[in-house]
Amino acid sequence: MNKISVMGGRKLEGEVNISTAKNSVLPIIAASILSGEKCVIDEAPMLEDVFVISDVLRTISTDININEEANRIVIDSSNIKDCEPCSSLVKKMRASFLIMGPMISRFGKFKLSLPGGCNIGTRPIDLHLKGFSALGAEVNVGHGYVEAQAKKLVGNKIYLDFPSVGATENIMMAAVMAEGETIIENAAEEPEIEDLGKYLNNMGANIIGAGTDTVRIIGVKNMKGTTHKPICDRIEAGTFMVAAAITRSKIKINGVNEEYLKPIIAKLTEAGVKITSDGNSIYVDADRDLKPIDIKTMPYPGFPTDMQSQMAGLLCTIKGTSVITETIFENRFMHAAEMKRMGANIKIDGRSSIIEGVDKLTGAEVRATDLRAGAALILCGLVAEGETEITDVYHIDRGYVSIEKKLQGLGADIRRIMV
Ligand code: EPU
Repeated sequence: MNKISVMGGRKLEGEVNISTAKNSVLPIIAASILSGEKCVIDEAPMLEDVFVISDVLRTISTDININEEANRIVIDSSNIKDCEPCSSLVKKMRASFLIMGPMISRFGKFKLSLPGGCNIGTRPIDLHLKGFSALGAEVNVGHGYVEAQAKKLVGNKIYLDFPSVGATENIMMAAVMAEGETIIENAAEEPEIEDLGKYLNNMGANIIGAGTDTVRIIGVKNMKGTTHKPICDRIEAGTFMVAAAITRSKIKINGVNEEYLKPIIAKLTEAGVKITSDGNSIYVDADRDLKPIDIKTMPYPGFPTDMQSQMAGLLCTIKGTSVITETIFENRFMHAAEMKRMGANIKIDGRSSIIEGVDKLTGAEVRATDLRAGAALILCGLVAEGETEITDVYHIDRGYVSIEKKLQGLGADIRRIMV
């Protein structure tokens, strides 16, 4: 298994280009099977999660061509025969569940192996399934599988108990060809949902309000093929903003949408980082002493849970006490134990982590327990004294395109060790 080694202590400088968003491209790939016509995704991020969801769809005879040099994915699902993808692949990645909505919509059925918990929480899918039932599907859970069938789906009003990103996306995809109108209330408002809405509308759907708390879907008869470029990855951009902040450096980040970054910009600004923007780029200047801050993760437009671990790393290097409260996932503090091995002073109290800034972090051998925790450990390694070696980097590869190469481009002393 690969490792990443970071020698801490270098300032960063220069520019970095942000890739398109993992959390946009995954539902978009899933949505592509709503039509038997070819769909093309341009400037797709070449990530492990993209390869896994593609492999899942290949097991139900979807033809997926990934051109890694051109960053293009061509999806042809005209030959799908059955709706029971290979369970060992489905289990490899939770986001496989995004194909439930498209399958029930186009084929009136699916059977998937149920997800277990994962490193950040139990992550049930009850809201997805309630949505399918509300549209008229018969949903059964048993023997480790979830199965659904519907002769036809009929639009309905669906109120989500919690604005779940995946449930909003799955219900939108399930409802595009349902008879009549579906309204999702208390829907998740993440920019990736707006992007999915645009993609579905380009495929022929009639969706109004994707990316707001009320999504209206008027059922259409058919969906067709289309071409799309997903939005930029706001979490990758945020991770590089923190890379600049933790090393007290100045860098330019290209290919971003400032609007999506507002909650991250607000918190970094509160900590004393200077952030300006010109259209598609933002400039991060952290070449000064920073202040401790408190953070609470919330559904969008609140502070993203996917930036929580990286911010924890930064706050470890800022004198004083900071508190992070995690409200989305119940177990997203696994980075703390690893950061403590690097000299961090973090106490976990229920859903909060209390971080006391330390004079210095020290390099250590640490483990990426999940995607964002892994990224946070790289960030800590950038300022730690000596060498930090991060294992289980496959978690990081799930969601960051060539993270070590992008950091090398900014002057970091970081390399991948192929084991
Ligand atoms: N939840 C339920 N029941 C459901 C669905 C969700 O109780 O039926 C709970 C979850 O257990 C969790 C909370 O609701 O506690 C939020 O889950 P949500 O459904 O919003 O998250 P998701 O769709 O599973 C997506 C991203 C995550 C990101 C979250 C929150 C994708 C593929 N994944 O997950 O991304 O953290 O939204 O913003 O879009 C990451 O990129 O590192 C990542 C984990």
